[in-house]
Amino acid sequence: MKVAVFSTRPYDREFLDSANDESKAGHALFYLESRLNSQTAHLARDHDCVCAFVNDQLGRAELEILAAGGTRLIALRSAGFNNVDLDAADALGLRIGRVPAYSPDAIAEHAAALILTLNRKIHKAYARVREGNFALEGLLGFDLKGKVAGVIGTGKIGINLARILKGFGCEVLASDPFETPELAAIGGRYVPLDELLARCDVISLHCPLTPETHHMIGREAIAKMKRGVMLINTSRGAVMDARAIIAGLKSGKVGYVGLDVYEEEEDLFFENLSDQVIRDDVFVRLMTFPNVLITGHQGFFTREAMTAIAGTTIDNISAFERSGAPLHPVPSERRG
Ligand code: NAI
Repeated sequence: MKVAVFSTRPYDREFLDSANDESKAGHALFYLESRLNSQTAHLARDHDCVCAFVNDQLGRAELEILAAGGTRLIALRSAGFNNVDLDAADALGLRIGRVPAYSPDAIAEHAAALILTLNRKIHKAYARVREGNFALEGLLGFDLKGKVAGVIGTGKIGINLARILKGFGCEVLASDPFETPELAAIGGRYVPLDELLARCDVISLHCPLTPETHHMIGREAIAKMKRGVMLINTSRGAVMDARAIIAGLKSGKVGYVGLDVYEEEEDLFFENLSDQVIRDDVFVRLMTFPNVLITGHQGFFTREAMTAIAGTTIDNISAFERSGAPLHPVPSERRG
């Protein structure tokens, strides 16, 4: 099939080319660096499939242009599909494939890396030691063992983090409208969200972005938390209200923040903007706090996850070519 692949970097091309070669699928992959939006959607004209990533826009306007240009399949290189107008896709007869699980370990391990780095201030220690500064002032951390850690969303990623946190000796509390017996099996416990917010020293977000979870961690939720709480977000930026986080950091209520995602990240992440002025004042303010650590949506970025993403994406496209349906469609129960 002819596939227009948006938002690609050399590393995406490497993994997709090798999955295409290994499966002998023979798809014609047309790589574009640009993000998909209403200005760039016409570049996919005459391509049966559009392959998109997390910050590509797949709203009604873009989907209409794609459908008019002959596209029939959207193959997402992500698990999340909050950037797709599913009703518009249905109405236009576009099928949506995604990569439901590639390496939940990759993101859970990244969340754990944020927790450890923030706690033990490894990012500061690294810079200090390179400058010949071996003083310990300002590097004081805490033992994770015996602390209460909260996991919001115990799907594929959250349950892995729960397991890791149990390994550190934390008491693990969780909140999820769909409970899994796996949590009890690893020694964790579901509690009402308010109890989780009130009791946890560390809270990590692993739920999808939906109308219900939008700004779930805002002023009200922060008010219920312990003073000095550590907040970790590797899910989707808008699950947190960044302005409320800033207020919490300024008052000292929030003690640490580790982010791999940001609500307005599509204008920032995955680009080298080091010689440009960043115009997003909220993001720049967040970066000024000594107790905030931000990575640019790299939770998924391991060799294993990239191999799995490319393999599943090519399999979705091949299945659609054979049968008219991707191997992993967006689940119908999550729609609407
Ligand atoms: P999943 O679908 O396996 O699990 C999500 C869980 O959240 C489900 O158990 C669901 O019941 C739960 N949930 C839904 N609404 C909730 C609510 N209001 N409160 C608490 N829990 C709720 O998804 P997965 O694969 O574990 O991904 C989790 C998040 O991580 C998603 O937001 C995804 O977009 C994000 N992600 C981030 C990546 C990164 O590179 N930083 C890479 C991959 C996924």
